[in-house]
Amino acid sequence: MKTIVTMGRGGTGKTSFVALMAKYLIEKQAVPILLVDADPDQNLAEMVGVDLETAGKKTIAELLSETFIERGGTMAGVAPSKRIESRLWEEGLYEGGNFDLLAVGTKWVEGCYCLPDAALKNALVTITRQYRFILIDSPGGLEHLNRKIANDVDVVLDVMGPSSKSFAHVRRAYRVIQETGIRFGRFIVLGGYAFTPGLDNRVAAETGLPYGGKIAEDPYIAEHVLAGRSLLDTPKDSPAFKSVSKILESVLADM
Ligand SMILES: Nc1ncnc2c1ncn2[C@@H]1O[C@H](COP(=O)(O)OP(=O)(O)OP(=O)(O)O)[C@@H](O)[C@H]1O
Ligand SMILES: [Mg+2]
Repeated sequence: MKTIVTMGRGGTGKTSFVALMAKYLIEKQAVPILLVDADPDQNLAEMVGVDLETAGKKTIAELLSETFIERGGTMAGVAPSKRIESRLWEEGLYEGGNFDLLAVGTKWVEGCYCLPDAALKNALVTITRQYRFILIDSPGGLEHLNRKIANDVDVVLDVMGPSSKSFAHVRRAYRVIQETGIRFGRFIVLGGYAFTPGLDNRVAAETGLPYGGKIAEDPYIAEHVLAGRSLLDTPKDSPAFKSVSKILESVLADM
């Protein structure tokens, strides 16, 4: 079971990249996969053609909110993240043919995602099904790292934007992830779809981190994300899918 986590500033193309990674792994029959949407502004499900509500599935935040706010459950005793564990697998996990999906979700009123993130972390260590890959899509920014949504990660893929701020972000992300004590095997920087060609040479020099290639800009992706359609149907000859396949081939070769 290999865990891959995306990181990066807002809007660099992390979620569409995760959807295209899933497509690649499904085509390689490297399944089953667990997709984890750790972004409160969830949109990974939509990008892989899943409607959790229609499927009758709840997000982690919804389950917590139901259990501890609407039903007035006590927070005392066993940690809330542990107490919703069984409900989480029964009522939260979307089960598909090639992949399952779990979302942190947005329905949390306290302002802090500490509890949903703690529940997610707890869920990830108690997984009983043997997945070939766990792909975690993170929200933009770094705050979630402090809440340690995962303990043990094989590869961190940081999707960079085209700005000089992105360089500072990558350096900070690398430092923060080390400080949190999250165990990770490799940290690889990727050029997001808006990355300009000259920037790739700067990555290794300015960050000291390995560069894994660039995600190609592709109008098909932009259109389909906007329309809320699944990226799993992306044609194989799409520039974005081809670039993601190339990136993953080399990432997986070293695994
Ligand atoms: N390969 C691509 N080619 C062209 N446009 C893209 C590509 N990938 C993403 N986009 C565009 O960028 C927008 C943001 O993409 P996405 O939601 O994947 O980014 P994100 O990093 O997950 O954002 P957030 O930080 O808000 O979660 C999409 O709406 C889409 O229009
Ligand atoms: Mg996203």
